[in-house]
Amino acid sequence: NVKQTLANKRVLVTAGPTRERLDPIRYLSNFSSGKMGYSIADSFKRRGADVILVSGPTNLPAPPGVTRIDVESTAEMFEAVKQHMNADIGIFTAAVSDFTVKDKSEHKIKKQAGSVPAIELTETEDILKYVGHNNEDMYVVGFAAETNNVEEYAQGKLESKKADAIIMNDVSDTSIGMNSDDNEVTIIYKDGGKVPLQKMAKTELAEKIADELMNKVMD
Ligand code: PMT
Repeated sequence: NVKQTLANKRVLVTAGPTRERLDPIRYLSNFSSGKMGYSIADSFKRRGADVILVSGPTNLPAPPGVTRIDVESTAEMFEAVKQHMNADIGIFTAAVSDFTVKDKSEHKIKKQAGSVPAIELTETEDILKYVGHNNEDMYVVGFAAETNNVEEYAQGKLESKKADAIIMNDVSDTSIGMNSDDNEVTIIYKDGGKVPLQKMAKTELAEKIADELMNKVMD
């Protein structure tokens, strides 16, 4: 029973972790469940927007009416996001792997007596940074998941990624952040405005985030 005011607005949400394969059966990843991003996608859909959800592997069903694009790796997430650069607002909730494996093994890496494999990593594409620097007029909202110096690092990401807002998330507290049902964040706008949102269920928090951000894309 929320008011549908975002008809004809395109919303792009990324969610969940990305996985970087070492070999056909092993990967590097993180504990993101997708809950935060899926809830945000749902909240925007219920406000009438067309929502594209680019999702890494999760156990969650797509929210009703949301178009989900399933991806595995950061490279795949990047390709899917580039197809939707015409969104009016992009919310980058995904916990994207910063590193990928340089030489992925085609076959299962075998155990060898007396030695362990050295795995060389390379940097992945920074999807949010690419969008921040290359969009036409998308309103770009990133997240910053930090365990220390949270505010300083979040401010740095706002600038380096050329985002319009950053949602700051202290993930050192395991009762909020990755894989928890609750979260507590502060929205930091590039003009310096700050909106703290107290600890609550991610579903409720998504409603507050959508209410707060929707006026940024309304005519
Ligand atoms: O999925 P849940 O279990 O519900 O958990 C939610 C969450 C903790 C994952 C979410 O609230 C959150 O904080 N997401 C951001 C996680 C993250 O990777 O943050 P970061 O500070 O490393 O990255 C900063 C921003 O750049 C993020 O918007 C991220 O999506 C983006 N990024 C990062 C690296 C990269 N290569 N490409 C990116 O687009």
